[in-house]
Amino acid sequence: MEENDKNLLQTYALLSRAAARKKIYSLKALKEDKPRTAHLLRALSESEAAQARRILNMIRGKIDPTENYLATVFTKEIQEILARYTEEIKQAKALGLTTVANALSQLFDAERRLTTFYAYDVQDIRVAEDDRYHVCQFCGFVGRSQPPDICPVCGAKKETFMEIQ
Ligand SMILES: [Fe+2]
Repeated sequence: MEENDKNLLQTYALLSRAAARKKIYSLKALKEDKPRTAHLLRALSESEAAQARRILNMIRGKIDPTENYLATVFTKEIQEILARYTEEIKQAKALGLTTVANALSQLFDAERRLTTFYAYDVQDIRVAEDDRYHVCQFCGFVGRSQPPDICPVCGAKKETFMEIQ
């Protein structure tokens, strides 16, 4: 990744975090009976979310034909994310941050399972016409057919799953 992209990525992370915090604080302000503050915080949050999206568009990379991209998703992109999680889990454990390490381990597991959608032998994605996908909104695990009663990665309930239309 180029140096400028790394900087933009940090800006993206900063904006995303700021937008998420303002969204949470807008809910908190509502509970504290401060509706005007909540309203403003929602507006600020949306502003920063829009800024983050614009930056993401700048750093998402060149758009190739889908076939070219699919070839790299499972062999490169997912592997990079897994390597990143592995390093971060190691660091969190070294710092004694057990909760962070456990959360990251679940995310690693969800990401690792994405590779099951790819057939390495024929270098193609495993898709069937009747495939349905359900994504756990807590950890990112993707279930097929029906959403599981309990997420096999994080233990979240069935209601946490969102079907992809
Ligand atoms: Fe989950």
